[in-house]
Amino acid sequence: TWTTENYIEEEVARIREKAAGKKVLCALSGGVDSSVAAALVHKAIGDDLTCVFVDHGLLRKDEGDWVEKIFKDQFKMNFIRVNAEERFLSKLKGVSDPEKKRKIIGNEFIYLFQEEAIKIGEIDYLVQGTLYPDIIESGTDTASTIKSHHNVGGLPKDMTFGLIEPFKYLFKDEVRNVGEELGLPDEIVWRQPFPGPGLAVRVLGEVTEEKLHIVREADHIVREEIKKAGLARDIWQYFAVLPGIQSVGVMGDERTYAHTVGIRAITSSDAMTADWAKIPHEVLDTMSRRIVNEVEDVNRIVYDITSKPPATVEWE
Ligand code: XMP
Repeated sequence: TWTTENYIEEEVARIREKAAGKKVLCALSGGVDSSVAAALVHKAIGDDLTCVFVDHGLLRKDEGDWVEKIFKDQFKMNFIRVNAEERFLSKLKGVSDPEKKRKIIGNEFIYLFQEEAIKIGEIDYLVQGTLYPDIIESGTDTASTIKSHHNVGGLPKDMTFGLIEPFKYLFKDEVRNVGEELGLPDEIVWRQPFPGPGLAVRVLGEVTEEKLHIVREADHIVREEIKKAGLARDIWQYFAVLPGIQSVGVMGDERTYAHTVGIRAITSSDAMTADWAKIPHEVLDTMSRRIVNEVEDVNRIVYDITSKPPATVEWE
């Protein structure tokens, strides 16, 4: 019978046989799939695994430090963190087209990962958190999947290596079970989806450090209040966006002219379609008050009440 424990035991043995004593690399994002894959492979081969975490500076509040803490301190993995905020921000300077922003971030990400991979030298295996639905979707199997998954597609062409894809036949909920069993914290195992380009697609138009700061602080409050209200597992995604609108407000007897923050929350089962979440008004009220009070240069909060379609989950 299939149990999580059996699965882990068998997969650990298989990975150990295949890759013990070899050089194995994993691109860690802090997302569910890559995190659980890293933990599983680490259990099998320990220090033969190196994880590379490219921090593009577009993560949520304290996220980079937190990911580092879990994998470096708790799991004691070989963990390389690449702090590249300045580099990403300088590449994004003056760019406001959403597709251009995504391309720049994707390319830079691959480039930085490549640089690290080259430093490590000849790699034998690359770990991928590919799930069964990913394989069905792309209609291909292992060797060619690497092309369709943009997050790892860009390793040097002359580099030859095998793939370790421990979740090739698993669904998301099974991967979550494996993660729990391996001792990963709930915050990772039950994490809401977060786009690869990060907060850059939640700051509409040009990304600047100031705008990132506003959206990051507002997002932190949205997440705290959802958690406090006990809604985290019912809502698929919940976050703040910065539309780049400024409007007139009043604070004391002063006129203000400051940013609008949008709150987006959706229920969904796969993000292909989604409904806007009917969050209790009191929760929205607390979020709104807190954001205006605690985040500088914000004087107006709006709640996004469009479903997908016609809107998308992200605003860019
Ligand atoms: P949209 O905005 O297209 O989003 O309705 C659907 C789901 O995909 C997530 N998303 C991304 N995930 N890289 C990712 O890994 C990306 O570039 C990306 N863009 C959107 C989004 O958060 C939602 O869950």
